[in-house]
Amino acid sequence: MALGLVSAVSLAVYLVYRMFFSLESRIPGDLSARFTILMYRSRAARGYQADMAEEYYDKYGDIYAVGPGVIVLSNPADCRRVLGSHAFRKNKKVYSFFAQVGETMFSTSEPEVSNMRRRQFGPMFTHGYLAQMESTVLECGIGEIKKKWNRQVDQGDGKAVINFSQDFSLATFDVISALGFGQQFHALANNDSKIIQWVDNTIKLAIRTQLLPFARRYPMNLLTAALTKSHQAFIDFNNQIIDGRRQMVQAGKGHPKDILQALIDAEDPDSKMKLSADEITAENVSFLIAGTDTTSLTMTWFVHFMMLYPECYQRATAEVRAAFSPDHLVTYAESRASLPYLEACIYEVLRIRAVSGTTLPRIVPAGGARFQGHFLPAGTVVCASVAGLNHHTSVWANPKRFTPERFIDSPDLKQNVMTFSTGVRICPGRNLAYMEMFTILANLLKDYDLELPEGSLFGPDRLDDNGNPIPMPRRHRLTAGPWHPDRDCNIVVTKHSS
Ligand code: HEM
Repeated sequence: MALGLVSAVSLAVYLVYRMFFSLESRIPGDLSARFTILMYRSRAARGYQADMAEEYYDKYGDIYAVGPGVIVLSNPADCRRVLGSHAFRKNKKVYSFFAQVGETMFSTSEPEVSNMRRRQFGPMFTHGYLAQMESTVLECGIGEIKKKWNRQVDQGDGKAVINFSQDFSLATFDVISALGFGQQFHALANNDSKIIQWVDNTIKLAIRTQLLPFARRYPMNLLTAALTKSHQAFIDFNNQIIDGRRQMVQAGKGHPKDILQALIDAEDPDSKMKLSADEITAENVSFLIAGTDTTSLTMTWFVHFMMLYPECYQRATAEVRAAFSPDHLVTYAESRASLPYLEACIYEVLRIRAVSGTTLPRIVPAGGARFQGHFLPAGTVVCASVAGLNHHTSVWANPKRFTPERFIDSPDLKQNVMTFSTGVRICPGRNLAYMEMFTILANLLKDYDLELPEGSLFGPDRLDDNGNPIPMPRRHRLTAGPWHPDRDCNIVVTKHSS
């Protein structure tokens, strides 16, 4: 009885404290955030994370709480401070998910490891090295897409309905897996590949290992046995590929320029440290996961927004057709040099539909930190909101409107697009992603005419209260893509005749 009374009083004190005196009670946010993060997490887990990031910025502005000890920032100066140095480290609990095969550049929260990987991988992501990989990017990207689309258009008497989201996904897999394994897997041609299945199973295994208690122990491990087997097959395959490549190079039979070779050659200029076979595998898999959906979904949103804003589509298409002849394969350097409007459209898509990292979580260091007048103690999780930054009204006029022209009028605005993050953990793969996106999109706009199929649910005439076309719904899992790709990502394709 006495124990019951003590418990009831303690609970009441705790609730009063959380409601009126906690840090979260002084920071804007939903009432539930003062007590639990579960409400936020359950909506996020159902796929609404990207929508929520935008909604919460609109509602609460520069700072808000989503749960006890979890605060989101949207102010550009605050976010640059958090992301700018290693003082605010990556949140281990969240990022350990990305260590499916082992600790990687992406998953580590240790500044020393992160800095060493940046030094080791520096050469791989330079423009010079990327230029040497471009032939593979062109062949497996736009080359394979054109082969497939031409085949379908020819079979359909000059017209085909194509699911562009699926084809972009398969093509980006083909590009990164060709660069990472030194051989082609033809996912686009076959609508699947063993690499895709392995990566899918690796992600599923990581999710289940996180969710299931004692997932690695008997009998719980029986629930993941098939996934574990597939994961091991993937690791074995990686190891064989690395061995094969090392033997080939040692035998003097070539020195290919691709991600695999760059990982094998990677060396820290300071410590002379190289990567072990396990580390190469872990990094290679993490590049596949970090670099495929992100790139393909950005292109998916690009085509979708071109269809929602026909005047932008006409202008981007006219630009590329005026600059290049029909039989010319537009390269990355050419598209960057000659297609400012296409570039503006790509930046605007990255801004308005950031596919990844809607809120990037970091940990407040010892001594705490003050943001927007609030003192956050050490250990608080502080998240930089990419969606907030990309919509911040101090930077962007009419942020909900797709307006590529803003980058033509003010080219400096490009550096405020935060979709690749900023600072010490900025995406190292962004130039590879740009190379894929520019070459695929420039050549597609030049060579094909695209139209929405009859009866499409989302188009230029379906407007919201502000008069902007309503985009298709999006679902955020690891990345934010279309909720119903089978329904909303079809396009009628014909070959462009000049
Ligand atoms: C449009 C395409 C892409 C987008 C929008 C994107 C976005 C991002 C973002 C927001 C981060 C920061 C994540 C965080 O701090 O939690 C990141 C990190 C990273 N990205 Fe990308 N990415 C793209 C393509 C790529 C590609 C093609 C690769 C590699 C082949 C890649 C490899 C990585 C890696 C390794 C990191 C971790 C960097 C670190 O923590 O130091 N990404 N990316």
